[in-house]
Amino acid sequence: MKMDFPVEKTVKARSSIRTYENRGLSKNEKDRINTYIANLSNPFSIDVTFRLLEKAASSDGEKLGTYGVIKGAGNYIGASVSDGELALEALGYSFEKLVLYATSLGLGTCWLGGTFNRSGFAAAMNLKEGDLFPCISPIGYPTGKKRTLESVMRWASKSDQRKEWSELFFKEDFSQPLTKAEAGEFAFPLEMLRLAPSAVNKQPWRIVKDKDAYHFYLARSLKSDNAKTDLQRVDLGIATCHFHLAALEKGLPGTFKKLVNPEIQSPEQMQYVFSWIES
Ligand SMILES: Cc1cc2nc3c(=O)[nH]c(=O)nc-3n(C[C@H](O)[C@H](O)[C@H](O)COP(=O)(O)O)c2cc1C
Repeated sequence: MKMDFPVEKTVKARSSIRTYENRGLSKNEKDRINTYIANLSNPFSIDVTFRLLEKAASSDGEKLGTYGVIKGAGNYIGASVSDGELALEALGYSFEKLVLYATSLGLGTCWLGGTFNRSGFAAAMNLKEGDLFPCISPIGYPTGKKRTLESVMRWASKSDQRKEWSELFFKEDFSQPLTKAEAGEFAFPLEMLRLAPSAVNKQPWRIVKDKDAYHFYLARSLKSDNAKTDLQRVDLGIATCHFHLAALEKGLPGTFKKLVNPEIQSPEQMQYVFSWIES
């Protein structure tokens, strides 16, 4: 299938950019981003609302602040969704598709789920009652340089590393790793998933292949997260976007489905979310 951008090249080109040129997007780029937003969809058919925000639009610059984490960007993208089943996963999927599109235009982005002034940005988002507003991203022109704070953050999160296949992908249950050879044509979608960004680079996604299904799980940390901004669910949506775009590009048919019970023996901290069923 012809994609909006080459999947592997774009996935490998994306990284979190925290230092930008001190200017807003050009009209041409804003138009392209807004047109792409208008046509965004996700496999869960859940409406996600995006807004391209002008930092200058706030009367008090500090209201649209990121505690100094992001420098120079004149524009931000905010995403919100009505609360519901798979809402945060759908938001992660659609937002990451937009992030990859921006990357393919040469623009920088950085997922932010923690280090931003949520109430200041929420006011600019015109949220409806019950909307979830977990994340924003700056969007702009990378300077190509990293500040010390940025380098320290990347080092602390081990941002340039990803877990090995044997820690993420399994066959039949969680006791046996799935090798690239065993994954066959699906080695590519799984590898694209493995390279996905996640909050503090936690990589909470786990996949179990069983017959013609790939079951998607979250490896939950023991401490309970705030359900309204559950970033691990957003992480799973992001990773699902990488997997799905790669499968579509290779013409591998299938659909996402939430099974009542995937009947996989799983450790307690593994939470089943949905499955990709080959067709
Ligand atoms: C859902 C989500 C939330 C994130 N929140 C923040 C944040 O609040 N502040 C920040 O500096 N980086 C944040 N990040 C960026 C991650 O630290 C980064 O994606 C990860 O370390 C991998 O690095 P990379 O994006 O350069 O590949 C977030 C990433 C994701 C996916």
